Amino acid sequence: MSDNQSSSKAILLVGGKGTRLSPLTNQSPKPMLKVAGKPVTEHQIVKAQEAGIREIVLATSYMAEVFEPYFGNGSKFGISIKYAVEEVPLGTGGAIANAAQMLELQTGESVVVFNGDVLSAHDLSQQISQHKATNADVTLYLTEVEDARAYGCVPLDNEGRVLEFLEKMDNPIANTINAGCYIFSSRAISEIPRDSVVSVERDTFPLLLQKEFPMYGYKDGSYWIDMGTPQSFLKASRDLILNPSLSAATDSVVAESLIEMGALIDSSANIGGGSMISAGARIGARATVMGSMVMNDVEIGEGSTVIDCYIAPGLTVPSSTQIVGEILG
Ligand code: GDD
Ligand code: MG
Repeated sequence: MSDNQSSSKAILLVGGKGTRLSPLTNQSPKPMLKVAGKPVTEHQIVKAQEAGIREIVLATSYMAEVFEPYFGNGSKFGISIKYAVEEVPLGTGGAIANAAQMLELQTGESVVVFNGDVLSAHDLSQQISQHKATNADVTLYLTEVEDARAYGCVPLDNEGRVLEFLEKMDNPIANTINAGCYIFSSRAISEIPRDSVVSVERDTFPLLLQKEFPMYGYKDGSYWIDMGTPQSFLKASRDLILNPSLSAATDSVVAESLIEMGALIDSSANIGGGSMISAGARIGARATVMGSMVMNDVEIGEGSTVIDCYIAPGLTVPSSTQIVGEILG
């Protein structure tokens, strides 16, 4: 395979408002929220680096200024990171076209694009290999879900070619969905209009199919989650803490929990089930915390039980309280 067909460049789409995660996203863009102790974007950067990506552009818009102080030029991750800021959000397709300009793609070169809120254990190297082997213009990572209504529904033919791309259907015609990680040829990227608002899902994919650009699905059944709702955000953190092998970026886990320096936990408290306890949190005597995210400076009183909950910074759970499955904050 010649060099100009390699896929060592990537774009991360991190400019959305994260409305479904409000109020958590009032202070932080969704991709910077910490899952298992690290921003979602960091999990993705580490995954990309492991698959041979060496240059990444973060396509930012909402709270664009918070990314660069954290990720810098990428040297601490062994890659180059640049930032393409959209003054006005350009949509997922417009963001790709805008960010791609910074990557100076050569003819025949490909680029990997990630939705900024997806965590997955899928085999990105294998997806890249398939993209080359089929000579595709677009290769979409697909996964199967029971209810496809909230996603892009992607039926395939017997050879794995994409038949249609149907974003957020009321009555999905397949369970295979767009899992939010694409490989694009430079030729396909050139089809996206510059400097205008474009949805890759609603505009670009249907256009490329209409023009008969070869588009293939790469089906992979490994772990996948879109952490864009409060419940899925909590689940993602719990899952990564309980299965540290899912992401090389996960902080060190002890006894099925991740406890930051500066958290004060009474020795009679019982913490586990994939919980995350942030700095400044105080957990009282005989309290039980399972599968929960306890944010900075939270106080959990004596004898309380907190199961599968998110507790926003600074809140107090009074003594002897029982809460299950709640998002507090
Ligand atoms: N730079 C930039 N500019 N990024 C954007 C913009 C924009 O205008 N709009 C959205 N994004 C980013 C978001 O930050 C997010 O990381 C990603 O694009 C996807 O947006 P979501 O809002 O999370 O979309 P979704 O979850 O409803 O649907 C998408 O993901 C599903 C899989 O999780 C679609 O791609 C579906 O087809 C897909 O199934
Ligand atoms: Mg999403």
